[in-house]
Amino acid sequence: YLNFTRSEEPNGIDGKPMLNRYSTHLTREHDFPGAQAMLYAAGVPDKLTMKTAPHVGVASVWWEGNPCNMHLLDLGKEVKKALTARGMLAWQYNTIGVSDAITMGNQGMRFSLQTREIIADSVETVTCAQAHDANITIPGCDKNMPGCIMGMARHNRPSLMIYGGTIDKGYSETLRKPINVATCYEAFGAYTFNTLRQPDDGGDTSKTKDDIMDDLERHACPGAGACGGMYTANTMATAIESMGLSLPGSSSTPASSPAKMRECAKAADAIKVCLERDITPNKLLTKKSFENALVITMALGGSTNAVLHFLAMAITAGVDLTLDDFQRVSDKIPFLADLAPSGKYYMADLYEIGGVPSVQKLLIAAGLLDGSIPTVTGKTLAENVASWPCLPSDQVIIRSLDNPIKSSGHIQILRGNFAPLGAVAKITGKEGLKFTGRARCFDKEAQLNEALNRGEIPRGQNLVLIVRYEGPKGGPGMPEQLKASGAIMGAGLTNVALVTDGRYSGASHGFIVGHVCPEAAVGGPIALVADGDEITIDAESNSISMAVSDQELERRRRDWKPPKPVVTRGVLAKYAALVGDASHGAVTDLL
Ligand code: FES
Repeated sequence: YLNFTRSEEPNGIDGKPMLNRYSTHLTREHDFPGAQAMLYAAGVPDKLTMKTAPHVGVASVWWEGNPCNMHLLDLGKEVKKALTARGMLAWQYNTIGVSDAITMGNQGMRFSLQTREIIADSVETVTCAQAHDANITIPGCDKNMPGCIMGMARHNRPSLMIYGGTIDKGYSETLRKPINVATCYEAFGAYTFNTLRQPDDGGDTSKTKDDIMDDLERHACPGAGACGGMYTANTMATAIESMGLSLPGSSSTPASSPAKMRECAKAADAIKVCLERDITPNKLLTKKSFENALVITMALGGSTNAVLHFLAMAITAGVDLTLDDFQRVSDKIPFLADLAPSGKYYMADLYEIGGVPSVQKLLIAAGLLDGSIPTVTGKTLAENVASWPCLPSDQVIIRSLDNPIKSSGHIQILRGNFAPLGAVAKITGKEGLKFTGRARCFDKEAQLNEALNRGEIPRGQNLVLIVRYEGPKGGPGMPEQLKASGAIMGAGLTNVALVTDGRYSGASHGFIVGHVCPEAAVGGPIALVADGDEITIDAESNSISMAVSDQELERRRRDWKPPKPVVTRGVLAKYAALVGDASHGAVTDLL
């Protein structure tokens, strides 16, 4: 990255640590009088503040129309208030983002992953262009968190992240149970197969399938906050907190909780510590902290999207992290959490029993999580959680280490003649560890959804449904297949595996394999598989293979023609031209 000017003068006025090491070049003399004139107009109150106060950019990934993000401007205002009270200059700005749930299953989803790059680009751009001395980011929805961390890694100035927080649980009166947004997608499968009914528990059974869908849509999201299970947003927030880049409890504090507002004030204290001690992202984004991210993700059953995002964050930070690290950590870390999507509980439930710091405390005590890593508080991770309560002995959300749900992690890295450069499977053990079936191929998810809607996927046969040309370049944008996976689960198609070069939402579950690499659009083997080929997914040998000879594959390769690009202009065309493969995080700046 560009070597931006930074003053190395150790002390500012009165011998205190110099906190405005970047902005001082604009503000100390009269070399940039226009800049100072503009800054006075924007709110710098006096000359002393102009000369000494650090400039802190406060980047909310804010927009209306999505519960994950709609409150982030208000959190930013709270942060600004706290920064100002502590003598710092706070400059709020925001980056774009999109809602994964709203874009899901339609053409909009192609725009989702590329927003991670736009967020990183925005944070890097504003921080460097405006000569900010520090940066606080406030993300909410899935791609926001890795985008913010990638932006921080690029500008490498003292930074921390405040997670917007998890949503509260919804409740369905018709199904008489807690629900969340993923319930809507799963119900859609049952709706399609006319099996969506009220429970047979002696209560009301008069509601039609449309009444039930109306109820679910109306009550799944009760207010602000990111999707409530261990889906991508909560996964990324949990991992980033375990890397030391956000305050203790940030990832499990619900968006609606007064504690989230208090976190905003504490963030101002922490960023001052980071400025005073020169705690920069490159000191926090280390191999050890990524190891922690992997450990907590495996223990809590986090989203497969974490694989893509951790790789992208590591590549951006110059940390040597590969797919093999995921398998190594998955092999040794037990899966402990009964959290949605595979389990019963939500992040809001985990908050009630102590939250993520209590889980970290458990894992540190067991020697699984590294408590010695530095964090944005200026203390180590272990010091941060030392006074946090232990998980109560009678809680049922986090299993004990000697009684895990599964003795190893749920994320498996698969390789084989189907995916020579790797694929990512989420295996919780509930679906079994091995699956063999006949391929049924769909070019694009829409084709599969149409087949599901027409009831064309038969029950009673072992099928491997292949959705291809949905990779980073081919999608473009590696769209998530939540609609298909949710519909398959909801329809009760239990003898079906879903394999794609696209992604799955963190809310997906079942026998699913994504991120198949190389992708179909560049001629990977997934482009060559044909209906009826036998496919075997084996989570014990970490393989995904097709029973097709090398000669036959070679013959098919000679006949294969690259598809025409889906888009030729605009942001997705630029993205498709720049993006790298999924096994290297699908970043756009490895040129
Ligand atoms: Fe934003 Fe799920 S749609 S976290």
